[in-house]
Amino acid sequence: MKFSQRAQSLKGSATMAATINAQERIKNGEDIILASVGEPDSPVPQITKQALINQIENSDSKYGPAQGLLSTRKVVSQWMNDLYQQQWQPENVVISPGSKYSLYSLLQILGDENTELLIPSPYWVSYVTLGKLANINIKIIECSSNENYKLSATKLKNLITGKNQLLLLNSPQNPTGAIYSKEELQSLAEVIKQSPQLTVICDDIYNQLIFSSEYRAPHVLDFMESSSASKEDIYNQVIVVHGASKSFALTGWRLGWTAASREISKKLSEFQSQTLTCMPDFLQIALEKTLQQETQFVLELKSLINRRYQIASQKLNSCPFIKVFPSAGAFYIWFEVLDKSKNSAQMASELLEQHGVAVVPGASFGCEYHLRFSVTIPDDQLLKGIERIIQYFTQKNL
Ligand SMILES: Cc1ncc(COP(=O)(O)O)c(C=O)c1O
Repeated sequence: MKFSQRAQSLKGSATMAATINAQERIKNGEDIILASVGEPDSPVPQITKQALINQIENSDSKYGPAQGLLSTRKVVSQWMNDLYQQQWQPENVVISPGSKYSLYSLLQILGDENTELLIPSPYWVSYVTLGKLANINIKIIECSSNENYKLSATKLKNLITGKNQLLLLNSPQNPTGAIYSKEELQSLAEVIKQSPQLTVICDDIYNQLIFSSEYRAPHVLDFMESSSASKEDIYNQVIVVHGASKSFALTGWRLGWTAASREISKKLSEFQSQTLTCMPDFLQIALEKTLQQETQFVLELKSLINRRYQIASQKLNSCPFIKVFPSAGAFYIWFEVLDKSKNSAQMASELLEQHGVAVVPGASFGCEYHLRFSVTIPDDQLLKGIERIIQYFTQKNL
């Protein structure tokens, strides 16, 4: 088969591949610790399940608005305003089948061959592919561990060309768990305000899952106010992508959304009307009930992940052959392997084949000699997984 050039350069998601392979092997009875997957192991909230069942029983689910149900957009905009102290209206919100699809659609409507997509590295596995699918020129910005994997305002300023540019900002970041501080965001906001051709897409999927007691991670929108810019001007330049996958353990339900200017939201809806038609109403109603009634879930998940992260990372830190990055949020332990004789893919493969631990190689996130271990597994599995990793590096270095 002769595939399109676009398809030829397309590779499936590395995290999904690592996970599906390990899951198959677990089903076949192999003793494997599944530390590659980025999804909470908590059950779906009962409120969500019940809302879905009720809606299916009471509705025939016909075509609906491409932008999402008005009632759902009302709830989402309210929930977002409470979280961010912003003033989004239902017209600013577009409901999608997951934040990955929101990112895909945004890049399709905002970028082309005349656009540059700035991606700070390490980056989430899908960003580069999503950019390529939109034919956008990709510029990877290396952000080292000395910079705590974060893009500084000075670095951003030097990259501004005055032509169309998009910046993907992810805080807490997957895979490192790095979070931008208020000061760092304030400085970034100054550069963004002075760069009208730059649009920032904030991937906020982990923004409540942080290890501090704050309600959410600091955000660049906290610093975008100016005397000359209206809210719509700001929402035209800073777009937020969020979803229910991580905060509410609804990964398989495919529920995401964007909060952007009305103009962007309208174009996004047009794009969705041609590619998606609409989101199923029963899923949207279930989302409404979840956001309205399920207030404890995120807090409990946050403290569970925090506890697991602290126990596991402390234990892993005792291994002299690796360096653990002190994450501030998300689900992952991100560590560097000090011996550079094998690359991350080789190490991940050996860990799986010889020690039964599925992790994701750093190369998939644009950062060699690192591995990502997910703490979204029960305590006994977590500790077993960490022990196996320590054993692997100890044997390897003896
Ligand atoms: C940084 C980041 N963004 C987006 C997503 C996609 O999430 P969703 O399930 O909402 O598509 C993930 C999932 O792993 C992620 O880690």
